[in-house]
Amino acid sequence: MADDKIKSLLSEDRHYAPPRHGKDIARIRSRHEYDALCELARTDNDSFWAERARGLLHWFKPWEKVQNCDFNVPRVEWFTGAHLNASYNCVDRHIITDRRNKAALIWQGEREMEVRCYTYQMLYTDVCRVAAALNALQIKKGDRVALYMPMVPELAVAMLACARIGAVHMNIFTGYADGGVLSRIQDSGARVVITADAVMRGGEPKPLKANLDRILGQCPSVEKVLVVNRANIEVNMLKGRDIWWQDLLDDFTLDADFPCVSMEANDPLFILHTSGSTGRPTGVVHSTGGYLTYAAHTTQWVFDVKDTDVHWCTADCGWITGHTYMIYGPLSLGATTIMFEGTPTWPRPDRFWRIVEKFRVNMLYTAPTVVRSLMRQGVEWTNHYDLSSLRILGSVGEPMNPEAWMWYHTYIGKGQLPIVDTWWQTETGGVMLSPLPYASHITPGSVTKPLPGIEACIMNTDGKEEEAESGGNLVIKKPWPGLMKGVHNNPEKFKSYFSTFKNCYLSGDGAKVDDKGNFWILGRMDDAINVSGHRISTAEIESVLVSHPAVGEAGVVPIPHEIKGEAIYAYVALQDNIEWTEDLRKELRNHVRSQIGALASPEQIQFVDELPKTLSGKILRRLLRKIASGDLLENLGDITTLARPDVLPVIITDRSRLAAGQPEKLIPKT
Ligand code: WT7
Repeated sequence: MADDKIKSLLSEDRHYAPPRHGKDIARIRSRHEYDALCELARTDNDSFWAERARGLLHWFKPWEKVQNCDFNVPRVEWFTGAHLNASYNCVDRHIITDRRNKAALIWQGEREMEVRCYTYQMLYTDVCRVAAALNALQIKKGDRVALYMPMVPELAVAMLACARIGAVHMNIFTGYADGGVLSRIQDSGARVVITADAVMRGGEPKPLKANLDRILGQCPSVEKVLVVNRANIEVNMLKGRDIWWQDLLDDFTLDADFPCVSMEANDPLFILHTSGSTGRPTGVVHSTGGYLTYAAHTTQWVFDVKDTDVHWCTADCGWITGHTYMIYGPLSLGATTIMFEGTPTWPRPDRFWRIVEKFRVNMLYTAPTVVRSLMRQGVEWTNHYDLSSLRILGSVGEPMNPEAWMWYHTYIGKGQLPIVDTWWQTETGGVMLSPLPYASHITPGSVTKPLPGIEACIMNTDGKEEEAESGGNLVIKKPWPGLMKGVHNNPEKFKSYFSTFKNCYLSGDGAKVDDKGNFWILGRMDDAINVSGHRISTAEIESVLVSHPAVGEAGVVPIPHEIKGEAIYAYVALQDNIEWTEDLRKELRNHVRSQIGALASPEQIQFVDELPKTLSGKILRRLLRKIASGDLLENLGDITTLARPDVLPVIITDRSRLAAGQPEKLIPKT
């Protein structure tokens, strides 16, 4: 980044006061107001959340208890006894107001001229029809519906239709391939899968339905497959099981006013899998009442969304960010939400700015990896666009490095706009630590402070709170409505979040707090890798590698990557008598791609004779990680616990050979 302007800004004591413009109508306007809200939440937590829940959502029946949580059990229960429906809150209640004919969802397809716009009334009609169609297929409250769909409006409609009848949706990112899709469908026990013929990527359809066809034989729970025609490509339709979405909805007898099911606040709204610390994905379960309250609450406070705003969250609905900040948050507030099917650089790197100008976007919420890749394309791509509608910029998924922060601030925010760097997780349902755009003083790289009502701190391994400036475990000390209410089919995993520190939720992230009380996220403490803001489990990749007949053992670690933040580095020890060849390296990479998906594809695979292990046989990933990043023997720290220290020098030499584009040296086994 050879830009003098940015360089000089970086050398300043970087510290940004909240903007004055827009402040008069902002929700939270000063540090003083923020402090007062924190105090309120601290002294009377239940009333604080009860007031938010009452003010933001429509409840069919009030709660008996604001919360009934106990981290020791663990039990997470919010708004006990209350009734509501998420689809009612996101759609129905707006069509009896002036919002009836405003844009609820604007869809920008991959091609520039493909735009579809749903008013709240139109969204209502489609959601009702899909709900009626699912009902006709005997899908009932509590049944799981898997959504393996591209970013098309039908996906939003399907999510809201499930919510309407109380079915639990489980979205699967379209970047996942066979193994990733299979484990999720099997874990959820979905009765229906909704998919499309293909997903559009770079002007070409990439088959989706065909991926399902290969695995559905192993998914006995699946009775019906609904297929949206996105790309008009040929697909196999199995008679009796597969139905075209369009055919199903063409039915004139479908009820265009299909009623909502009244849900208890703790009935599940959706399951979303995230990478666990084992090979098995974690099916995070979110409740209806607590989750929706927290989605609406954080959308309103963190992004200062008013119902006149156009909110654009660029995440895919296969991730929690798409759930909370594209669908449930903005729609429950009656705002306009943008859904973009394409990628930031196709057909040209000005795609985002064109969309901002075209729809007069007010909030732009994206990931550091996107900012870094656009920054690399050059600032000239932003030049010809009017970005003056933007009011707030957001970032999520991984730490935002100061260079990217400055670029975002300078060229997109024109040096004026607040950037909310939001820290949260699939498990937390919504943003936990973040600046408030009109109240916080921001230092690039820091996620600043917990939102009011969130009690976060840094704990060392003894369970003591750390002083300022020392790193440790980021934990949350008090329940909040967005917290997951369980892990599907895996109560032990759910317990594990609460068992390390008494009465605390363990985030799995390392962080530190500075002397001003600002939080800095240092990265995962467990074996997860963060590739382009996506959490991927090393164990999952290792188990896929080991499932290949040529592989004996595998050790997977993160390495720093300029655009992606982190990339995947895999060490592979082959079975006896199998040769190290470039073909095999390619084959193993494709194996991971086809089993998990392209996002898990290793940046580099290094063949090793043997992995460094302790005497008890544990792979020392700490060492592998350092070596992959280029550390030499003298920087590896304590290696006395190694069973065979002599394997290290070879691994180190081979790593530098690979980095220089040469293959490893084949050494005969001793
Ligand atoms: C992990 C959660 C929450 C939506 C996207 C990812 C990392 C998230 C930040 C941030 C530094 C961040 C953490 C976290 N992370 N936001 N602003 N700064 N790191 O959801 O897949 O559940 O991953 O992403 O490591 O634990 P997820």
